[in-house]
Formats: sequence, structure tokens, C-alpha cells
Amino acid sequence: MAVKAKSEKRKAQSQSVKLKIGKMELKNPVILASGTCGFGKEIEELVDINALGAIVTKTITLRKREGNPSPRIAETHSGILNAIGLDNDGLKNFMFEKIPYLRTLKIPVIVSIAGDRIEEFVKLTEETQKSSCVKAIEVNLSCPNVSHEGTKHAILAQDSHAVEQIISRLRKITKRTLIAKLSPNVTDIKEIARSAERGGAEAVSLINTYPGMAVDVSTMKPKLGNVTGGLSGPAIKPLALKCVWDAYNSIKIPVIGSGGIMTAEDAIEFMLCGACAVQVGTANFVDPNAPLKIANGIKKYLKDKRISSIKGLVGKLKTCKTN
Ligand SMILES: Cc1cc2nc3c(=O)[nH]c(=O)nc-3n(C[C@H](O)[C@H](O)[C@H](O)COP(=O)(O)O)c2cc1C
Repeated sequence: MAVKAKSEKRKAQSQSVKLKIGKMELKNPVILASGTCGFGKEIEELVDINALGAIVTKTITLRKREGNPSPRIAETHSGILNAIGLDNDGLKNFMFEKIPYLRTLKIPVIVSIAGDRIEEFVKLTEETQKSSCVKAIEVNLSCPNVSHEGTKHAILAQDSHAVEQIISRLRKITKRTLIAKLSPNVTDIKEIARSAERGGAEAVSLINTYPGMAVDVSTMKPKLGNVTGGLSGPAIKPLALKCVWDAYNSIKIPVIGSGGIMTAEDAIEFMLCGACAVQVGTANFVDPNAPLKIANGIKKYLKDKRISSIKGLVGKLKTCKTN
């Protein structure tokens, strides 16, 4: 009896940070955010990518895109503004130039895709899923720096009908885990999250950047060539947390949280508000090892709090309604 009790106790003390999103298995809940780690190879000498949960590639489009005029990045007091404009070399280049490296990784690869028309999303999904290393597709419905056909909205994720339509179309053609990446720049994030769920997404990922701008008063010019851009980093964290909390309370599928996560404590805040995993973006530019430190910090927190798995953390915010 004593031996059994001891082994039970040991089991309870060894924390598991593994999780599943759809069919995709992650060894920990820390994911590299799209656009902040290229296609992996760019950061391979700076960080042990295989120690992380997963990597989301830079968003790719069907055809090569030049992106926006420079400057494309402007620093602000507590974050960065970017207006890259989905600069990428297109699907063909991705399949021939990027997949060979991504295939060597031992963690799930999540391909981020974007398009102006639904057929472009379809083609991108059909082609990228041919590679077995692609375990999930993150549908970027939320880029603030591009325009779209077929919707009067500036950002696809502002149109709940378009979100449901695109996701349900992709659902019919892929068995890969489908993640809808949503924008915070909406009237009601709950409505948009529910559309993604209805469409058949296995998870939503939020948030992408907030629209913003900065001005150089010496030249009287905008700091970004595109004039406006997307704000990321610590400035948006409280706003992102609220979006995650709202989405978590309105859908049954998992929520992947992002927006200003720089430390393990930030990540844990997101998980308490309902995120089953987190994406780290801007922090990579400050410290490429931040995601690894965050993963280790989450594990330590679980151990200190004697919580046996991340399930015991997700959505466990103690509000006056629950306690
Ligand atoms: C320079 C830069 C480029 C980005 N490019 C993309 C992109 O191509 N696709 C995308 O879905 N999100 C992109 N993002 C948004 C991030 O993936 C992330 O959702 C956002 O920055 C919030 O997280 P953070 O505050 O940790 O950076 C980009 C962000 C930055 C800073």
C-alpha cells in the first residue's frame, strides 16, 4: 500500500506540459508566432527550436508579394509597429525552398496562409498539406496591412460570414488541424470566434496586432512607409487577455493566446484566462530564447503550485463568480 501511495504521489509531482490541439500533439504549450521566426532556418543558430511546442511559419500567399514600402518597423515605448504587408516568396518557393528545412524539425509545423479570395486559401491548403511535416494550418484572417476582394471589411476576420465561409470550405478539403487566426479589431470577438467554430476550426488563435501609427515630429512624416501598421508587444497584453477570456467563454474549441507575452508569468496569465497554448512573437526580437524560458517557467509554476498538467491551469481564473 505504502509503495503504491508513494508512486501515486510521485506521479502527481511530475508535471506534464503536453497537450493536443485537434490531432496535433505539442510537447509544451509555447509556439513561435507567425512572422517573428521566418521559416525556422533564420533562427536555428539562436534557439533550440525542437525544445518548443510548435512553430508557425511567416504567412505565405499563393503568389509572391512585395509587401509594403519601407520603413516597415517602428519601435514604440512598449511594443513595435509593423507594416510588412505579407512580403513573401509565394507557395512554390515555400514548397521547394522552405519545406526541406521545416521537414528536419522534430516539432509540429503550422503553416500560416492568407489570400485575397477563397480559392487562394483552398489552393494553399491543398498544396501545403502534401507535406507530412505540416500538422496544422493557421488561416490568417487578420492581417491589418493588406486589402481583400469580396468583403467590404478591411480585415477578413471582421466579417463573421467570411470567417465561417472560408473555414468551412477548408474543413471540407483537409484533415489537418485548422486554426483560425483572429483580429482584436472587431466589435465582438465572441461572435467571430463562434463563426470560426461553426466553420469547423479546431482552434482559434488570437490576437493578431492592433492597428496603430507613429509620427516623426522632426520630419512631420509617419514612421511607417505604409503610414499605419500593427502594434504588438507588452502594450497590447491587457487587451489581448480580454479577447482570450471572451473567446474562451463563448466557444468549446481551444484558444491559443498571443499578444505581448514576454515572460512565463505573462503566459500563465493567458492560460488562466483560457488559453491552452500561447504564441510568442515580439519577445523573439528582444531575446530569441524567451520562448524556451517561458516554457521552462510554465513547468516550474505547475510544480510550485502542485498542478499535475496544464489542464489544471487553463481557464482556472478565480473570479468572484467562481470563488
Ligand atoms: C514583425 C512582425 C511580423 C508579423 N507577421 C505576421 C504574419 O506574417 N502573419 C501573422 O498571422 N501574424 C504576424 N504577426 C503577428 C504575430 O504573429 C502576433 O500575432 C502578434 O505580434 C501579437 O503577438 P506579440 O505581441 O507576442 O508579438 C507579425 C508580428 C510582427 C511583430
